[in-house]
Amino acid sequence: MKLTCDAELRPYNSFGVAARAACLAEIHAGEDLEQAIELADSRDLPLLLLGGGTNVLFAGDFPGMVLLMRNRGIEIDRESGLVRIAAGENWHELVQICLENGLYGLENLALIPGSAGAAPVQNIGAYGVELESYFIELELFDCADGSRRVMSREDCGFSYRDSVLKQPRSQPQVVCSLTLQLSREPAPNMSYPALAEELKGIAGEPAPQDIFEAVCRIRRRKLPDPAKIGNAGSFFKNPVISQEEFEQLRNRFCSPPSFPAKTGVKVPAGWLLDQCGFKGYRKGAAGVSEHHALVLINRGGATGKELHQLAMKMRDRAFAEFGITLEPEVRIIGANL
Ligand code: EPU
Repeated sequence: MKLTCDAELRPYNSFGVAARAACLAEIHAGEDLEQAIELADSRDLPLLLLGGGTNVLFAGDFPGMVLLMRNRGIEIDRESGLVRIAAGENWHELVQICLENGLYGLENLALIPGSAGAAPVQNIGAYGVELESYFIELELFDCADGSRRVMSREDCGFSYRDSVLKQPRSQPQVVCSLTLQLSREPAPNMSYPALAEELKGIAGEPAPQDIFEAVCRIRRRKLPDPAKIGNAGSFFKNPVISQEEFEQLRNRFCSPPSFPAKTGVKVPAGWLLDQCGFKGYRKGAAGVSEHHALVLINRGGATGKELHQLAMKMRDRAFAEFGITLEPEVRIIGANL
């Protein structure tokens, strides 16, 4: 285990904001976790789990120990289509490796930044596919009592960008690895309108590689590359509103975009924020993408506090304008407003 005291967190969050942690432990093997937790216990430090740091905003420092998951390894069984992935693997590389091995299903989830271990925590989803459709089980380490256990799909309680692992706890639960069941037969999913549109030039049924490339093209057009412009993708979840609320929206705007949801109508938060005039908004170095009103960006040198203040202003404005409460998708750490 590599341990750093008074660690700078800028390299470990895709917003690229400066923040410090009392301690940072790089976890490469199972034993590293036990060792790190013992140390944190002895110094009375709270724990914070980080994978790729692509869905977190440090609005302030973290006065505890950050556990940085860096364990690697992918085991592929081409016959059964089962794939076991260590939590520290990069998600997009995994999607590519599965494709190269003739195992399909993850193409729509190409180019999602972050680590494989974080994927089940928020049930990552894009372009008509959610992780839960391919999920079999994960191995969990519970920092509260040092126990390990296996969790099935049912145990994880997946829903839209959510699982039981996302619930706040006094001590984190660490995903050490996950197992997915992929398909040996291409299983194209083109249900998402923007993806179908992107693929309409292809004669016949698109191959998994076509879908992979189309998703990469759409994402590159719409979403800033975190390696170049600090961001964490969608900042808020898309809210689900009642049919009556949706009718009110429809009276104001002739055809607001919407998707059916289990408990009502899902309206894109990006569209709501666009109506509020936030696309391309700037406040110092903190701002909003010119291409997508749901994506907060760090234009260089913005503080986490500035980005957080901007996010809260956007939330308040959307509420004042539409009476709809936006819930952050990004995990906010050290907020003290
Ligand atoms: N829209 C606007 N203005 C904007 C942004 C969007 O009018 O500034 C409209 C679009 O025209 C479209 C609708 O809103 O009609 C939906 O936009 P988009 O297709 O970009 O999808 P989204 O709902 O904003 C969700 C996920 C993304 C995922 C895409 C594709 C959430 C919160 N976000 O975005 O996930 O890539 O669908 O499936 O569910 C992420 O989680 O970080 C993320 C990027």
